Formats: sequence, structure tokens, C-alpha cells
Amino acid sequence: STQRTLVLLKPDTVRRGLVGEVLSRFEAKGLTIVAMEHRTIDASVADQHYAEHVERDFYPPLRDFVTSGPLVALVLEGDEAIEVVRALNGSTDGRKAAPGTIRGDLSLSNRENLVHGSDSEESAARETAIWFPHLA
Ligand code: CMP
Repeated sequence: STQRTLVLLKPDTVRRGLVGEVLSRFEAKGLTIVAMEHRTIDASVADQHYAEHVERDFYPPLRDFVTSGPLVALVLEGDEAIEVVRALNGSTDGRKAAPGTIRGDLSLSNRENLVHGSDSEESAARETAIWFPHLA
């Protein structure tokens, strides 16, 4: 059934000039962009978005990274969009992600892994409310 999912093209994607490449993959798959914004976030937005990770050892450098420059936030819609986006993104660690995925083809890092996609319908609703309150 049709779902919406919250996607981030993280600051590494913008810095590396890969916004078009990554967006093309989502569009070519057949997903529809229903909202998109170029934005630089502060630590409080990072803490909200990554609420489940704020106590983890990897979080302080992750927070520094996601606040380090502009990113592109978007909402994508399509049949089973949550799972489809996660499959396109590939596994978290770019060094281990399968070739053919965004991370597998374009990232060599566990932190600077280019993209974020909501991991469940609950996460998609929670994250959409943070980034695009008018859509929540
Ligand atoms: P994301 O899908 O946005 O969800 C949490 C993010 O934390 C993840 O992508 C990575 O950017 C980062 N991350 C997860 N695990 C680690 C880790 N072990 N070391 C560094 N960064 C991590």
C-alpha cells in the first residue's frame, strides 16, 4: 500500500555534489517527491530526529556531522516506500553495503553514509512531524 517516508540527503551528499545522483535513483525507482527542502539544522533538531540515538557513543560525532552544513530533507511517496527506500539506501555502513545501493556505490563510511530513510511507519510519522509539520 502507499506510504510516505522521511528521507535526508545528509551534508556529505550536498558537499560531494551527489544530490542529483541520489535524487535520480529515487525518482527512477518511481517514488514521488511530495516535499523537499534545503536546510541547515542545529543540534536541537538533530537531537529530535535522532532521539533514539542521543545516548549512544557514536552520537556526538553524528550530531556534529549532520549539523556541519546544508542537507536536503524530503518526503517520498510510493507503494511500500519505507522498505523500498531502505533497500535503495543499502545497509548503514557504506563499506559493507551492497553494490547497487546508494551507500554501497557511493559511500565508504559508517557515519557519512549519504542518506537517511525512516525505518518504520511510526518513525516516518514521527520524523515527518519534525521536518515537515504541515504534512504530519
Ligand atoms: P541513519 O540511517 O541516519 O541512522 C543513524 C545514523 O547514525 C546512521 O545513519 C549513521 O549515519 C550513523 N551511525 C550509525 N551507526 C554508527 C556507528 N557505529 N558509527 C558511526 N555512525 C553511525
